[in-house]
Amino acid sequence: MTSDVKKVVLAYSGGLDTSVILKWLQERYGCEVVTFTADIGQGEEIEPARAKAETLGASEIFVEDLREAFVRDYVFPMFRANALYEGVYLLGTAIARPLIAKRQVEIAEATGADAVAHGATGKGNDQVRFELAYYALKPDIRVIAPWREWDLDSRAKLVAFAEQHQIPIARDARGEAPYSIDANLLHVSSEGKALEDPWAEPDAHVYSRTVAPEAAPDEPAYVEIEFERGDAVAVDGERSSPAALLTRLNEIGGAHGVGRVDLVENRFVGMKSRGVYETPGGTVLLAAHRAIESLTLDRGAQHLKDELMPRYAELVYNGFWFSPEREMLQAAIDKSQENVAGTARLKLYKGSVSVVGRKSPQSLYRQDFVTFEADGVYDQRDAEGFIKLNALRLRLLKMGRG
Ligand code: ARG
Repeated sequence: MTSDVKKVVLAYSGGLDTSVILKWLQERYGCEVVTFTADIGQGEEIEPARAKAETLGASEIFVEDLREAFVRDYVFPMFRANALYEGVYLLGTAIARPLIAKRQVEIAEATGADAVAHGATGKGNDQVRFELAYYALKPDIRVIAPWREWDLDSRAKLVAFAEQHQIPIARDARGEAPYSIDANLLHVSSEGKALEDPWAEPDAHVYSRTVAPEAAPDEPAYVEIEFERGDAVAVDGERSSPAALLTRLNEIGGAHGVGRVDLVENRFVGMKSRGVYETPGGTVLLAAHRAIESLTLDRGAQHLKDELMPRYAELVYNGFWFSPEREMLQAAIDKSQENVAGTARLKLYKGSVSVVGRKSPQSLYRQDFVTFEADGVYDQRDAEGFIKLNALRLRLLKMGRG
C-alpha cells in the first residue's frame, strides 16, 4: 500500500512489539523506516537492536547512549523541584519520554523523514507525552501510533504477525507477558495482569531492582550525598557524572529495599490505574535534596516551592515538558537552587531512608538563635507583641459582632 508517508523514525526497543511495528509500518505505509534505539539505563543491551533492525529491513539505524543527557537534563532538573505526582510517584516513565521524542524529531530532521512513530498504546499517558513533545518541537510532524490504528489487539495476533514476517520471537515473548514494564535509570514500573486488581498484593517477582525490605541486610548503610546548586555531585566523597551517581544510588538503595511504591494513580486520559514502581536511587536522592534545602532555603522560597511542586509534577506527568508553563516554573525553581549546597547523611535500613545529618557552607541554620540555652541574640520579650498582634483578629471574633 502506498501513502503520503515516505520515511518514518520509529522509537525502537528491539522487543517484539516494536519489531512488529517496524514491519507493519513498511507494509501499511510502504515507507522507509529509520529506527532509533536509546540506552537510558533500562538495563538491557541495546546493540542487539541494531542487528535486529537490520534484519527487519530498517533503512537507517540509530543506536545511542543517552544516559548522561537523561539524568543531567531531565532527571536532575525535575529533582530540583522535588516533584512527586499524587504524593508518591517519582515520575520515572514520564520524565524519559520528552528526551526520546526530542531525539526522534532531531533524527527525522537529519534524515529527511516526514513522520515519527512510537509503540505506546491508545490507553496510556505515554502516547500523550510522546506526541505533545513531537508537536511542540516540530509542529508539522506526521505522527503514527500503530496501537491506535491496527487490529493486532491481542498477543496471539501480534505473535501470528511476527511469525508471518519472520520476526524472531524470544521464547518468553510467545505467551502473555507477565506485566507491562517500563524501565530506565530512574525507575522500573510494572502494570497490568495480576496487578490490575488493586487489592492483590504484588508478587515478589514483580520486583527487579530492589530486594524485599524484609530480606535486606540487618545492618543499616550510611550514605553521604553532596549537592551543588541543587544537584547531587558526589556520593561518599566521590564525585561522579550524573548518570554514574544515580547508578550508584540505585545499587545502594536497591540493596536495602528502598524505593518501592504500590499505588493507584489518575492517568491523564481519564482512568485510574494501579502501578508498582521501584525508584531506589531517586528515593534516596529526594530525601537528601530536601535535607539540604531545609538548611539552605529561606522559608518563603521553600514554601512557595512546595506550593508550585504539584503543578510542576502534573505538567511532567501529563506530558507538558516542552511548554512555556513548565519552563517558567523551572526558571523559578532553578533560581531557588543557587545556594542549595552541602552534604546530607542518610541511613538506609530495610526499606526506609532516614536523614540523620545535614551540613552546608550556605546554611541559614543558626544555633545561636535557636538554642534552648541562654543566648545573647534574641529577646524573648519580642515574642509577646508578635503573638498579641497575631491574636488580635481572633480575639475580636470571639468578642462578638455588632
Ligand atoms: N503509569 C506510569 C506513567 O504513566 C507508567 C507507564 C508505563 N509503564 C508501564 N509499565 N507500561 O508514568
